[in-house]
Amino acid sequence: MIKKINEIAATVKGFLPKNKNDVEVFRIKYLGKSGVLNQLFEEFKNVPVEEKKEIGRSINNLKEQLKNKISSFDFSEKKNQNTNFEDLTKKVKVNNLGSRHPLSIIEEEIIEVFSSIGFSVAEGPEIEDDWHNFSALNTPEEHPARDMQDTFFIQSDPSILLRSHTSSVQVRHMENNSPPIRILSPGRVYRNEAISSRAHCLFHQIEGLYIDKDVSFADLKKTLLFFAKKLFGENSKIRLRPSFFPFTEPSAEVDVYWGLKNENDYRITKGTGWLEILGCGMVDPNVLENCGIDPKKYTGFAFGMGIERIVMLKYKVDDIRLFFENDVRFLKQFNFSL
Ligand code: DAH
Repeated sequence: MIKKINEIAATVKGFLPKNKNDVEVFRIKYLGKSGVLNQLFEEFKNVPVEEKKEIGRSINNLKEQLKNKISSFDFSEKKNQNTNFEDLTKKVKVNNLGSRHPLSIIEEEIIEVFSSIGFSVAEGPEIEDDWHNFSALNTPEEHPARDMQDTFFIQSDPSILLRSHTSSVQVRHMENNSPPIRILSPGRVYRNEAISSRAHCLFHQIEGLYIDKDVSFADLKKTLLFFAKKLFGENSKIRLRPSFFPFTEPSAEVDVYWGLKNENDYRITKGTGWLEILGCGMVDPNVLENCGIDPKKYTGFAFGMGIERIVMLKYKVDDIRLFFENDVRFLKQFNFSL
């Protein structure tokens, strides 16, 4: 039987059709219902057990060979047309080309500004534990400062939560690295807020952290001024207002000067001309200690900003919900950077 199969294989190998019809006749002869292959399978039933393995393999190889042979001939009209040369000067119409999301554009811009002065990106999980989101950041259980951020807890295990800020990444990074540390942590955060034009239950933040010997508040101010000038223009002015965060001491909120040129400026700056862009401060010694860094040897600063807020300021977007609706009429307006 092997001999017979080999002979058939040789014939198949030499088959050369002239047209589509030849291929079809060939297909029916070999692969048709009562074709050569099925006859072989019929004969196969009577093959002695000890030969079954070898002969079975040969028949299957022949089947593969037949299928490949048939699909190697393409007499379809489309194929013939393709032998004509395409008009290479023809204009290609590209439909539905997407654009980058404004949050990604600004996130990347911020990362670029800080990487030019030595910061690198460090990321962490969105599902966090209490320690990294709160306790290590000098906000123990029952501390009233926990109410500053309305947090989503996992019902079956309240020590697990959706991170309410990217400050949690500071903790993770300090636990696993020793100074000097210069990181930037972008990411999604969650808060149990009523959704409105100014607040959402999810948004994005970028956290910055710099720990080394002799880092001072002056370093923080200079770094943030550098950042504001790069992002909002060389003539930008910033001011720092004293504030409170449990993980920094002293703490401040930073405003950028927006101006009071028209009525709208009065409205969004509440008549002051200044707009808040971020929170910052000198890392509290308790936080350093919680993360295994000696506060007698090292100091550092941290800052955190909402990316949506920066995009809203830069591009005059007046409703935070637009970022999450994926309406192409909104998104298309940002395709200038493609
Ligand atoms: N984690 C703060 C928030 O979500 C923002 C922040 C403030 C981060 C001050 C910092 C900081 O690192 O120093 O509101």
